[in-house]
Formats: sequence, C-alpha cells, structure tokens
Amino acid sequence: MVQLSTSVCLVGGLLGLFLLVPVMASTPASMCTPLRTLNVSLSQRRRYMKHNFPINYTIRIHQKEIFKLSNISRMKLQVKDLDELVLQRLWFQVNQGVLKKIIRVLPERHPSRPYTAELENRLRDAEGVFVHAHPAEVLQQELPETIQDIWDSLTEEPDRVPESVWRFASPKSLLDNFCHTMFCLFSDCFASTELQQDYCGVSHWRKDRKKALQLES
Ligand SMILES: *[C@@H]1O[C@H](CO)[C@@H](O)[C@H](O)[C@H]1NC(C)=O
Ligand SMILES: *[C@@H]1O[C@H](CO)[C@@H](O)[C@H](O)[C@H]1NC(C)=O
Ligand SMILES: *[C@@H]1O[C@H](CO)[C@@H](O)[C@H](O)[C@H]1NC(C)=O
Repeated sequence: MVQLSTSVCLVGGLLGLFLLVPVMASTPASMCTPLRTLNVSLSQRRRYMKHNFPINYTIRIHQKEIFKLSNISRMKLQVKDLDELVLQRLWFQVNQGVLKKIIRVLPERHPSRPYTAELENRLRDAEGVFVHAHPAEVLQQELPETIQDIWDSLTEEPDRVPESVWRFASPKSLLDNFCHTMFCLFSDCFASTELQQDYCGVSHWRKDRKKALQLES
C-alpha cells in the first residue's frame, strides 16, 4: 500500500516535471537576441513618436490594437490555463498592425519613417525566430474562443470593420504598450539581475510614467 502510493507519487512527480517544462520554456533563448534588438529601437520611441509629431497627434486604430498590460491580466483571468504562447502570437499580430497604421500616416520623407520601417523589420525578424523556435503544430493550435474572436476582428477586411470599433491613440502610447507588453510576455529575455522586476505589473509602469512626466516638465 505504502509502496504503491510512493510509486504513484513518483510517477505523478515525473509527470508534473514533464508538464512543467514546456510552460517554463515559454520563451526560447533564441528569441532573446531579436527581442533585445527590438527593445533598443523601441527605447528611442519618445523622440520618433512624440517629438517628431504635432502635439496631441493621434491615429485611427482598431479598438483591439490597444493591447496593454491590463488586457493581459484580464485575459489571464478570463481564459482558464491561458498559454503564454497564445498571448505572444497575439502580440505579434497586434503590433504588426499598429506599425502598419503608423507608417501609413507618415509622408515619404518624414524623419520617423525609417525608424518605423526599422521597427517593422525587427519585429518581423523576431517573429521569424519565434516561428522557428516552436513546432508548427503548437503554433497552429486552436485558439481559445475569446482570443480567436479578437484575432478574427483584427484580421477582418478594413472595409468590413464596423465604424464603432475604431479608436484614436497617439503613436507614442501605442509604442509604449508595444514595449511594456513585450517585457511582460517575454520576461525571460529581460530579467534583471537587480531586484526582481515584475514587468507584468501595471504599477511598475505607472511609476515609470510618473518619472517620465517629471523629467518632461
Ligand atoms: C531596453 O533597451 C534600453 C536601451 O538600450 C536599455 O536601457 C533598457 O535597459 C532595455 N530594457 C530592458 C528591460 O532590458
Ligand atoms: C493636448 O492634450 C492635453 C490633455 O488632453 C490638453 O491639456 C492640451 O491643451 C492639448 N494641447 C493642445 C496643443 O491641443
Ligand atoms: C484592451 O482593453 C481596452 C479597454 O481598456 C479595450 O478597448 C481593448 O479592445 C482591449 N484590447 C484587446 C486586445 O482586447
């Protein structure tokens, strides 16, 4: 009896280990180089997405292209056992759309145009590595319904998108979301050796914003 339960425990423990491995390896190490490169570009966003634009300038985007830390925490609450990989796929999809919309409002010779094109390339590079780092069947996995709905509405033909889903947002705020959600969803690549950073915590960035506002004024 005792022996049986011990072996059950052992098998259970081993199974647990196997189940844990893919969860822990949610960000393959190969992703870190392109993502850190992307971060270096994104760290210039104030200059290119704020200073180069008229004050309070906004662009029209799809409502679902507002993808912030609060959306991530809400989705994790809404969808049971939500795989980080699903959120990462959504992150690529959303931010490709955002960059495309920013590029569209920039005239050929606008100083932010090469910058935005560079971000597009770097995001594409990171996605290439992402796709290679995961087996195709994992990436083709059916999405949870809530996420699939978001996906469908993002990939809808623009002329079939109802008027009510459009929103206005500043390019800078969109890139802030882009950057903060990257740190959260790929935190393995941005782990700090200093005190444990919680990149997914909204309060972490509120503090940051306050600091930035103080610097600006
Ligand atoms: C992102 O890049 C900037 C500029 O190189 C760097 O200062 C910052 O620490 C990086 N962020 C993270 C979380 O690694
Ligand atoms: C920009 O927006 C802020 C906050 O809504 C407002 O206080 C400010 O007057 C606006 N500036 C201009 C130039 O429209
Ligand atoms: C994120 O939340 C905002 C509301 O705060 C919502 O308008 C937006 O559609 C959400 N984004 C996604 C991707 O669900």
